Amino acid sequence: MTDIASAPEAPKKTTLTVTIDGHAVEANPGELLIAAAERTGTYIPRFCWHPRMREVGMCRMCLIEVSGPRGMSLQPACMQPCAEGMVVDTKSEVVKKAQDGVLEFLLINHPLDCPVCDKGGECPLQDQTLTFGPGESRFVEEKRHFEKPIPISDLVLLDRERCILCDRCTRFSKEVSGDPLIHFINRGNATEVNTFPDDPYASYFSGNVVQICPVGALTAEPYRFVARPWDLDQVESTCTSCAVGCRVVVQSSGDEITRVQGVDSGPINWGWLCDKGRFDFQSISASDRLAQPMVRVAKGRAAVRTSWTEALGQVTDRLRTYQPSEIGFIGGARLTNEDQYAMVKFAKAVVKTDNVDAQLGDGLPAHAWLGLPSATINDACGASAVIVLGADIKEELPVLFLRLRDASEKRVPIIELSPTRTGLSPYTTSTLAYRPGEAAVVVRSLLSLIEGVDVERQVGGVEAVDLHIAAEALRVAVAGGRGNGRVVVIFGRPSLAETTDSVVEALGALNNGIPGVTFLPAMRRSNLRGALDMGLAPGMLPGRTSLADGASWFAKHWGAAPVSVGLDTHEMLLGAVGGGIKALVLVGADPLADFPDRALAQKALANVGYIVAIDTMPNSSNAFADVLLPAAGYGEKSGTTTNIEGRVSNVRAKVSAPGLARPDWMAFAEMASNLGEDFGFDSVEDITAEIAAVCPSHLGLTATVLNAPGNADGVLVPIPAASIESAVPTDAPTEASADTSPTAGADAPEKEATAPGALSVPPLVSFRPNAAAAVVPQPDSYSLRLVTSRTLYDHGTITQASPSLAKLAPGPHVRLNPGEVERHGLTHGSNVRLVSQTADVVLSVMADERVPRGAAFVPFNQHGPGAADLIDVATMGTEGVTKVRLESVTGG
Ligand code: SF4
Ligand code: SF4
Ligand code: FES
Repeated sequence: MTDIASAPEAPKKTTLTVTIDGHAVEANPGELLIAAAERTGTYIPRFCWHPRMREVGMCRMCLIEVSGPRGMSLQPACMQPCAEGMVVDTKSEVVKKAQDGVLEFLLINHPLDCPVCDKGGECPLQDQTLTFGPGESRFVEEKRHFEKPIPISDLVLLDRERCILCDRCTRFSKEVSGDPLIHFINRGNATEVNTFPDDPYASYFSGNVVQICPVGALTAEPYRFVARPWDLDQVESTCTSCAVGCRVVVQSSGDEITRVQGVDSGPINWGWLCDKGRFDFQSISASDRLAQPMVRVAKGRAAVRTSWTEALGQVTDRLRTYQPSEIGFIGGARLTNEDQYAMVKFAKAVVKTDNVDAQLGDGLPAHAWLGLPSATINDACGASAVIVLGADIKEELPVLFLRLRDASEKRVPIIELSPTRTGLSPYTTSTLAYRPGEAAVVVRSLLSLIEGVDVERQVGGVEAVDLHIAAEALRVAVAGGRGNGRVVVIFGRPSLAETTDSVVEALGALNNGIPGVTFLPAMRRSNLRGALDMGLAPGMLPGRTSLADGASWFAKHWGAAPVSVGLDTHEMLLGAVGGGIKALVLVGADPLADFPDRALAQKALANVGYIVAIDTMPNSSNAFADVLLPAAGYGEKSGTTTNIEGRVSNVRAKVSAPGLARPDWMAFAEMASNLGEDFGFDSVEDITAEIAAVCPSHLGLTATVLNAPGNADGVLVPIPAASIESAVPTDAPTEASADTSPTAGADAPEKEATAPGALSVPPLVSFRPNAAAAVVPQPDSYSLRLVTSRTLYDHGTITQASPSLAKLAPGPHVRLNPGEVERHGLTHGSNVRLVSQTADVVLSVMADERVPRGAAFVPFNQHGPGAADLIDVATMGTEGVTKVRLESVTGG
């Protein structure tokens, strides 16, 4: 199997000519010989070289003959930049002898483990020995022996005697992930790769070293002895464990997914994956996957198995009895774009309700996500400066963190605004740890400083000196003193314990205050951007258009559209408690785990008259369902997904869904049919075609475009006019109306009639600044402000259903500044009671310098009581934040 992380990229400009094995090839100045040769069809064997890491010339496997002033000489191709007129021989007798020697030398100590080694069959050492190596070894001495294997972390095992000391894992951990926890120790023949005692390789990215190790020295615990390469079948797909959308191959054996590997995608992941995305495939074969429709004949009675026809018949009979405004749909971000489109069409055109929300009170308004001028990951990493306003990127979008870390190494200044220091903070020019709820005042002060207006000594908890450092970096960037003069803002929800008002106000100020600024939304839930693009938000319709602008358009295409803006998740839950909402449809949604106010979610689910849930796994919320429908999950269905950039890419089925589980779109199409509407969908492709024809932001995004050569990394929407196919309905938007600018969200296409009497194309949604300034809460010395956001591993269904990851969730605790720990007479590890206005929970204390004084950080959605029990969204709505007091616990 080829090294799928090593696909070299073609140079942008070819200006040199070198001769490789008698053929003249063009190369870039500075391009390494090993890369130029591979790009033009000559594979030079290698172990240590990796195109995404610095070259080290450690292994000497890539020795070739290169012309120089004194004739041909042996040179390592991975250390030799191309030069005009260079002549290279990769196949001479001299080269062959050198390769034989290197391999013979490496095999002195490498054990004969091939029959039992995970790498056997896809091992570069095995392959290159057969292709380039000597027929036999002259060494008869005893090989090195070590205890094997030793776990160096919860996920990675090390067989030291297999290591060929190539320095790939050690470089990855230093250069790429910034977790320098795996090293060479000892010297000479005793050199080995290892971790230091009591300092395990605890990294969110450890699976990458397994993938790039050229031998079987590093193996993944979830894959060890699971399959052999020749048993594996694979498809290329997109990771949907978060919203970065890393490119992957999904491999299976015997209709079971056995491994996920990273694929090198220049715009996205560069071949890297986080461990959650790599290993949470285990949840797909969890024993408690939902596999059969279940119905409950009465509240409180056990659910019984039934057929799809019976279950969907019951659902539609029941939904018929309610007014549209009494029905709400929550969730949908887990779905493919095609599932989401079927869901929104069912909710908004058939049920005719606008009570639809893919966010669970944990996001930002759809117009902020979609209405600001947009940036890509590459835009951010190549910007003159980056502003990050959000939660911890390393925890929520790990591979975006890797890309930003790399950008910071390349001297892109990063200004971070967050209520606590984060995993990204060590790589920022400046981290402005603002008092929770006060992001907007800090941003306004930053913008004032850029314009030369001085600010007070401290603003929103941030010292003026720190603001000056950040403002100076931004001022230089905006003035074009560095790079392209572009600033990119990466934004998300910094804390679920503060309202969104301050963040939205800050985004508006940045949009107005920095010329040419673009925005990259950064929130974790996998296909949330796709869900919002498909209209899964109140007041929105598919294609990034608002209900106000798009109702006539969709009424024409669908036959009906909602007449007024509906409720968001918070309002639907309130409605369920108050009686206005009588039926809830939960689509891959678990409000008890994800809505920030657990008491409200609990009351709503207990009170609402009827609950339908469509899901892959049982969870605490769908336990309330009257009808529970089994959905096909990741790797079991095909379609498309949209990442944070608005990049649409394929996800592909690899294995069968369990039992009667099926893709969500089928359930919505059948329910529509029960209610007298024929969607005409017989396949995913039918839905893709309809999206391409009627959704303003997705015009022309047909399966042909998605699968075209060169679009393997996905397609950013709106797509350029030239790519839009002509096969769209006569009154559908045409390329004339598609926005081809990089700032699509802000510059919505003009309404334009495409034929006499035809409907105008609805414009794309625009960002709406807050009508009034956000409430700035007054600090007091009696309470702390609660901060809560997600950690990579939590108590979520997918993590907990993946045995290798479940144990990595940090568990419930509160992190406090050491000064607060001391002030309250606590110690690290002791228990403390956190008391909010409505509830109290007892948590263990962790002293953490990254949390400023006056704040208390509680990781969201861990096992047992936690932040969602402390938050009361009604109180938070008036105060802007959630305050907690600390009380000692007897015996704590
Ligand atoms: Fe190279 Fe693998 Fe050894 Fe690391 S463990 S130095 S990647 S051979
Ligand atoms: Fe998957 Fe996100 Fe991790 Fe990439 S960063 S591998 S998309 S979970
Ligand atoms: Fe060139 Fe290792 S690949 S020295």
